[in-house]
Amino acid sequence: MQASVTEARKKLRLGVNIDHVATVRNARGSAYPEPLRAALLAQQAGAEGITAHLREDRRHIVDSDIAALMAHLTIPLNFEMAATAEMQAIALAHRPHAVCLVPEKREERTTEGGLDILREERRLAAYVAPLRDAGCRVSIFIAPDRAQIEAAVRIKAPVIELHTGAYCDHHAQGHMAERDAELVRLAEMAAFAHSLGLEVHAGHGLTYDTVTPIARLPEVAELNIGHFLIGEAIFTGLTAAIAEMRRLMDEARL
Ligand code: PXP
Repeated sequence: MQASVTEARKKLRLGVNIDHVATVRNARGSAYPEPLRAALLAQQAGAEGITAHLREDRRHIVDSDIAALMAHLTIPLNFEMAATAEMQAIALAHRPHAVCLVPEKREERTTEGGLDILREERRLAAYVAPLRDAGCRVSIFIAPDRAQIEAAVRIKAPVIELHTGAYCDHHAQGHMAERDAELVRLAEMAAFAHSLGLEVHAGHGLTYDTVTPIARLPEVAELNIGHFLIGEAIFTGLTAAIAEMRRLMDEARL
């Protein structure tokens, strides 16, 4: 049993997104709770990576958080960012293990959709190249859409992250037929992307109730989960919240 759990873990990594620890800190302009402390705890609790999104408006993670994470983490940092010149310069200065390109709108509450690679394919190809050359594993956050996946290959991104937000929203609203249709789309597009040689990640909005069908998709190598885990940590503590998510992921794979 132990060996198979270890095997399952090797095949499906958990990246813990700590943005909303910073949201709580920033609500009062205090020095606490510290995202770095949460990241170190997540690392101890079994996370294989930490994700942090430095937004243009610095509404949660700020520049000094990225510097602290780079200085103290011993697991990979997945640096989420918009494809802007400012963020590229920050990524090239820090050279995190991974960079995930996401669309960003000031007025949105969270990353609402995937990046539309087709709309700016030439610019994104040129944008990705120096990040790749600097040794960052570049992933592109996209909707489960065939044309976007093909475009990710053309711009030479080695990884895509499939947006699970629509699937989770349908589940939360009780729209089960739409939820199941979205799940089929996610499964088909994970297989399609994998067949083209892309590494496939998934995330956004995942909870204990929605993680299992996504964790079961055999092509998915990494899940990035944040908001739910930070919320759950209020009641059970971060270590227990992460351990339970990890348990569900392992169980889905066994
Ligand atoms: N993956 C990406 C690319 C994201 O933008 C986010 C949200 O920042 C997540 C995963 C995590 O989403 P959530 O916080 O809803 O779990």
